Amino acid sequence: MGNLIDGKAIAADIRRQIHDRIQRRLAEGKRPPGLAVILVGEDPASQVYVKAKRRACEEVGIASFAHDLSADTPEAALLDLIDTLNEDDDVDGVLVQLPLPRHIDPETVIERIHPDKDVDGFHPYNMGRLAVRLPRLRPCTPFGVMKLLEAIGFDPKGKDAVVVGASNIVGRPMALELLLAGATVTVCHRFTRDLAEQVRRAELVVAAAGKPGLVRGEWIRPGAVVVDVGINRLPDGRLAGDVEFDTARERAAWITPVPGGVGPMTVAMLLHNTLYAAEHLHGA
Ligand code: GUN
Repeated sequence: MGNLIDGKAIAADIRRQIHDRIQRRLAEGKRPPGLAVILVGEDPASQVYVKAKRRACEEVGIASFAHDLSADTPEAALLDLIDTLNEDDDVDGVLVQLPLPRHIDPETVIERIHPDKDVDGFHPYNMGRLAVRLPRLRPCTPFGVMKLLEAIGFDPKGKDAVVVGASNIVGRPMALELLLAGATVTVCHRFTRDLAEQVRRAELVVAAAGKPGLVRGEWIRPGAVVVDVGINRLPDGRLAGDVEFDTARERAAWITPVPGGVGPMTVAMLLHNTLYAAEHLHGA
């Protein structure tokens, strides 16, 4: 039976460190780091995520600025708000929760955020920095996965890593993080001919396709580390990852649960990035 990677505990530890650091800064008379979180519309999952992010900010001492916009907000109005926040010296990070309503182009929005306030790490500038081995603001979920691997003592250097899913927000930056860490990286996606064959040789599997049960437990190489980024709501209301958990756990050395694995790390790294932006990019 594989060990569980306790993302909840590892994230709590990181949040405690961020809290203590911010308290020290406040005691020195410095201003708190600030994060603006913009939510457009009423997507229920997004509402849950945004609430968690805002509450996490309050807990560590980051000033959270809430901007809840109606679903019919014109794209131009959202871009105007971003311009205002880009200029606001109390704001270190600007986050626009995705997905956006269909009439708003997410790439236009992401590129409007100043790269030094792009605490999601989604701006092409920050993705490019990671690609050329000069990471600045790093995408939160892949960054959180790297912290999980560090916490269990798994060094990716020289390892065969397989990333399942090639999205802009997880799969692609995940591959870049693992490449930076010295892994031999394969990225699988919808056109991959034989997913089973790829997963079978992986010493590290990161599943981020958003399809429940896509990665079968019997494919897992004995002793592998399995990181499941998927958060899928099943018809019966339960949450499930992209990996068939029970059978995968029988073969894996380490595996993340869903929920309680990667999810809490995404929020922790968002707080980390906001503090990083305040200290290193805005001289606060
Ligand atoms: N939607 C799903 N994941 C994320 C994330 O990490 N950041 C933002 N802004 N939106 C998301």
